Amino acid sequence: MSGFLKKLFAGAAPQVAHVNPWGAEFAVSPSQTLLEAALAQNIPFPHNCTVGTCGSCKCRLTGGQVSAITDFGYTLSAEELSAGYILACQARLKSRITVEVESAGDNLPQPATYTGQITSQHPLTHDILAVTVTLDRAMPYIAGQYASLALPGLAARSYSFAAAPERAGKRALTFYIRTVPGGAFTGQLFAGALQNTSLEVTGPHGHFFLRGGDGPIICMAGGSGLAPLLSLLHDARKNRLRRRCVLLFGARTQADLYALDQIEEIKTTWPADFTFLPVLSDEPASSGWSGRRGFFTGMLGEFIPPPQAASTQAYMCGPPPMIDAAITALTTLGLPLEAIHYDKFTDSSHAAR
Ligand SMILES: Cc1cc2nc3c(=O)[nH]c(=O)nc-3n(C[C@H](O)[C@H](O)[C@H](O)COP(=O)(O)OP(=O)(O)OC[C@H]3O[C@@H](n4cnc5c(N)ncnc54)[C@H](O)[C@@H]3O)c2cc1C
Ligand code: FES
Repeated sequence: MSGFLKKLFAGAAPQVAHVNPWGAEFAVSPSQTLLEAALAQNIPFPHNCTVGTCGSCKCRLTGGQVSAITDFGYTLSAEELSAGYILACQARLKSRITVEVESAGDNLPQPATYTGQITSQHPLTHDILAVTVTLDRAMPYIAGQYASLALPGLAARSYSFAAAPERAGKRALTFYIRTVPGGAFTGQLFAGALQNTSLEVTGPHGHFFLRGGDGPIICMAGGSGLAPLLSLLHDARKNRLRRRCVLLFGARTQADLYALDQIEEIKTTWPADFTFLPVLSDEPASSGWSGRRGFFTGMLGEFIPPPQAASTQAYMCGPPPMIDAAITALTTLGLPLEAIHYDKFTDSSHAAR
């Protein structure tokens, strides 16, 4: 056989993946992604979008080599890439590999499909709506998770739950949704065209939830990214979590701040020390705003003194550039990547890159 043919057949051979913590070992064909092969083996590999934008299938490559269908760097940070993280839904195997999946999510509620209707919507700011979707039956979820909403003929969009969960699940789901210029879903929503329209809702999804521990937590939100943090903080307060908490809320101007009454209520009833800091990036100099200006990512050192870096957990949601800048700042301060939890609010422009 010629060298060329040998190479061709060798390239076409299935490779083996070893996936921890399950210790599962299975073949992955050249046409399959790591995620597809794992799901075909009934391995509960975390996932949602399958197109490399949500980050749910993030795992750490500890041995072997993969190639990326779409660049992992659109969703993962530079720090995660250099620590060996990959996206299973975008990974094809170049050799035998070993990957580690965070096991903390094994007990999360199983996603299911529901029928829902938008039963109310009201503005929180000039570009964010509070939207209630009422389901045909109650959906159980964990604070911090999200659901996918699909209109007929349009791919599903992800939105994080803004309210604390209830033990028996919730039928009326609240979301905080920001308009996106040129956005197919938010364009119709903000035009008021979706009131009482039937939606297919799947969920709950995601691995953004409060981890165990007794060290401080630092929460960071940009824009509608406040929604899952409010859900998480309301729930933690209900459960009398006694951990020091800092909440940083980044917005452009005072007109972009919202839910301040909810934050004040959480702050005054939080059973331990609670600091809230809104930080404005584009507030006019003449406005009389006496609070902080700029980006909170440059201020994180004030809230994480060096002795606390190893025990602090970070939770953040919002625009991808904010998350990437915060990961760089947090790891520079000494937080391990395993203590940094986030959902990047990506959209279809990321999938199209
Ligand atoms: C886990 C997760 C949780 C989220 N939670 C929230 C939340 O709680 N609140 C919230 O407001 N948002 C959230 N998002 C973001 C949200 O899901 C949507 O991305 C957003 O609402 C946009 O939807 P759309 O249909 O209006 O815009 P889209 O139609 O998806 O368009 C988005 C942008 O991409 C551009 N675009 C579309 N197609 C292409 C293409 N082919 N090539 C180039 N550009 C293109 C559009 O012009 C537009 O600027 C979350 C995202 C994720 C992943
Ligand atoms: S399932 Fe892989 S990034 Fe969403």
